[in-house]
Amino acid sequence: MGRQQTGAGWAMTGRVVLVTGATSGIGRATATALAAAGATVLVHARTKARAQSAVEEFNRARGSASESAGASALFVPVVGDLGSVAGVRDVAAEVRRAAPGGLHVMINNAGAAFPQRGLSQDGVERTIAVNHIAVAALTRELLGLLRDGAATAGRPSRVVNVSSSLESRGNPHLADWSYPDRFSQFQAYCDAKLINLAYSYVLAAAVAGSGVTVNCADPGSVATSFGRNGGGLFRVIQTLGRPLLATPEKGARTSIRLAADPALDAESGNYYRAGEPYASSAASRDAAFQELVGRRTAAMLGGAPAEELR
Ligand SMILES: NC(=O)c1ccc[n+]([C@@H]2O[C@H](COP(=O)([O-])OP(=O)(O)OC[C@H]3O[C@@H](n4cnc5c(N)ncnc54)[C@H](OP(=O)(O)O)[C@@H]3O)[C@@H](O)[C@H]2O)c1
Repeated sequence: MGRQQTGAGWAMTGRVVLVTGATSGIGRATATALAAAGATVLVHARTKARAQSAVEEFNRARGSASESAGASALFVPVVGDLGSVAGVRDVAAEVRRAAPGGLHVMINNAGAAFPQRGLSQDGVERTIAVNHIAVAALTRELLGLLRDGAATAGRPSRVVNVSSSLESRGNPHLADWSYPDRFSQFQAYCDAKLINLAYSYVLAAAVAGSGVTVNCADPGSVATSFGRNGGGLFRVIQTLGRPLLATPEKGARTSIRLAADPALDAESGNYYRAGEPYASSAASRDAAFQELVGRRTAAMLGGAPAEELR
């Protein structure tokens, strides 16, 4: 990616970008880099206090850097818990208010892993609720706004889903996403990322030609607060393994390229690692698996299957 690794080489002026989970880790690095490139960034956080304090901090940092950057970046807080479909709808309503003219890029970055089994209020295990159901529901809610953005910009709007190499370890139960018998934090996270990747491919095909593209970013292994509060395996990785992990800025590069590189305007239905296309697992690309994931997701969201979203 060369000089453009920071995102600074790709102009984002006039682009409106939503980054979920933007107050920490990879999301924070993604949001600040895209704003530095000129984007208006909707900074999503779970609570109003966190969203506002992040926006204030980002604006302060931008103020001190703005003379050299010359950017007209703007940060706008958007709030909501992505742990349930109702929470997702609150986030979508805030995004519509914050970007009435349309959305150009949506980066589904928020993610979580839980050490103990628990169900969302929609009856889905929480890891799958946050890493998949919320991504599918929020994208579905905002497809119209993404199309509006594409129409006014005269170029496609982009959905970027933050995935993980651990998708290749996924082996989810196809008919039940609540883990009634056996639960492991690691397996649920792998399952959730695989399900979401397969769904991203389904969605990319479903919306092809409608002015919206869908791609996935594998950030690598990154030093963040992921799992630190909840504990379990990911906390161990983030503490004992920390010296081996990449910085959030490096981890954000793939999301930034998929959001900003003009050469990728027509790119859709692909998985990128270290900023370049990469073949994801055979399971994620299996047509029968994708169809089951698409149908199950549509059933849970109570709407049309992905192929009817166009
Ligand atoms: N770190 C890695 O090595 C790695 C590797 C592969 C993939 N990833 C993926 O990268 C993405 C970003 O993770 P990260 O490593 O940067 O970790 P992080 O710093 O913990 O960021 C995750 C973000 O998601 C938000 N979030 C989680 N649950 C939420 C909910 N129910 N509602 C609203 N927001 C919620 C968190 O908000 P709170 O702070 O309020 O919890 C946080 O801002 C995730 O999708 C993760 O799966 C990370």
